[in-house]
Amino acid sequence: ASLHGVIPAAGTGSRMAADRPKQYLQIGGHTLLEISAQTLLRVPGMASLTIALHPQDDRARGLPLLQDPRIRFTVGGEERADSVLAALLAITGTEDDWVLVHDAARPGLPLAAAQRLIERVLAAGRGGILALPLVDTIKRADREGLIEATLERDRLWRAQTPQMFRLGELTAALQQAAASGQGVTDEASAMELAGHPVQLVPGSPANLKVTLPEDLALAAWYLGAKEG
Ligand code: CTP
Ligand code: MG
Repeated sequence: ASLHGVIPAAGTGSRMAADRPKQYLQIGGHTLLEISAQTLLRVPGMASLTIALHPQDDRARGLPLLQDPRIRFTVGGEERADSVLAALLAITGTEDDWVLVHDAARPGLPLAAAQRLIERVLAAGRGGILALPLVDTIKRADREGLIEATLERDRLWRAQTPQMFRLGELTAALQQAAASGQGVTDEASAMELAGHPVQLVPGSPANLKVTLPEDLALAAWYLGAKEG
């Protein structure tokens, strides 16, 4: 089975509120999208990389680090899951190939963390995702902001990407989720809904998702480079 990469990069970055979608902000002279793509392309055995772009914004095609012949572009959709599904459908591969889905907005992914995920998934023969155990005590609130319960922290994780699944199973799971009208914010959610087991593999704090304005400086710090 081959290994393929997918990067959803069709979002608008509304919470970042920058002058452009956050995947086109720069660290060390390269866009977040280029940095994320470069890491996936360095994964041993990566056969192809499909990047989903916003239909009205194809500036990615001209970026210097996105000229690798393994890269192809596709048009993303309304929600992240739509963009991922569009990319999966554009892959030339077989059902039992593996696909690694990684957010453009996570430029700090250490190559070693990606390799850890791949090793664990291939060894177990079932899908998995990078995730971080929670450090804070977690409260569930009612609508008035009063604490309803304190959750069992030992069993709670923050999902990251990459998320790695069989191409055929993930495509079917995302199609099923879309048909059922269930909104899913990551691939694992779709696989869970379809009844598949998903392994949690320890990720990295460096692999934060750039979401709010203050996150860019933190991502730059982890990368040992400057914003811009
Ligand atoms: N994404 C996508 N297609 C969408 C929405 C999001 O490909 N319709 C991508 C983003 O470009 C990003 C990743 O999915 O790389 C993670 O999503 P998120 O952090 O939510 O990015 P945005 O949707 O762009 O940001 P926001 O939710 O703040 O608008
Ligand atoms: Mg979003």
